[in-house]
Amino acid sequence: MGEMDGLSVTACERCPELCESRSRIVNGVGPDDADLVFVGEAPGATEDERGEPFVGRSGDVLDDALRDAGLARADIRITNCVRCRPPDNRDPTDEELSNCREYLERELDLLDPEVIVTLGKVPSEHLLERDLAVTKVAGSVEETRIAGTPRRVLVSVHPAATLYDPGQRETFAETIATAADLSGVDTGDGQARLGDF
Ligand code: URA
Repeated sequence: MGEMDGLSVTACERCPELCESRSRIVNGVGPDDADLVFVGEAPGATEDERGEPFVGRSGDVLDDALRDAGLARADIRITNCVRCRPPDNRDPTDEELSNCREYLERELDLLDPEVIVTLGKVPSEHLLERDLAVTKVAGSVEETRIAGTPRRVLVSVHPAATLYDPGQRETFAETIATAADLSGVDTGDGQARLGDF
């Protein structure tokens, strides 16, 4: 039904419709011991083509915000709730989210990150297991259990939200800056390094 090799799903046929719509399984990228993990919804067309999360327009917005916060892709891990592109970019169904959850939980268990940033409504509600008004709670840190382990989740708007609602740009930028602070990843301002002594 599904196979993983470390952090990567190598074969899976749990979702018949997604098996039809995908070109490939899009696994997470980034260090296998990252302190900071970003979780999106599902791959879009560019991600499906290139086999990497957040490499289309949303990825450009994310990369810009990371850079402004002193972070680089190389410092962080990026993954999705669902690893196969849904047809016509529709939202993943509850069944698809639940089919893929085991893989996400295993990835989070192996990474054991300091902070998980949920990018948008779907990943935020999926990991916090409740309904959320994401634009209202964006930037807040929630304590939750994922697969039985206490985790710190930082809720974020989806990077694409800043494209159709410029009012979300500041919220997004502030959230990514908070993520950098909380994770202790060295952003080049000396703070994280000082903390190591
Ligand atoms: N949007 C997502 O939620 N995930 C991606 O990988 C790309 C865009």
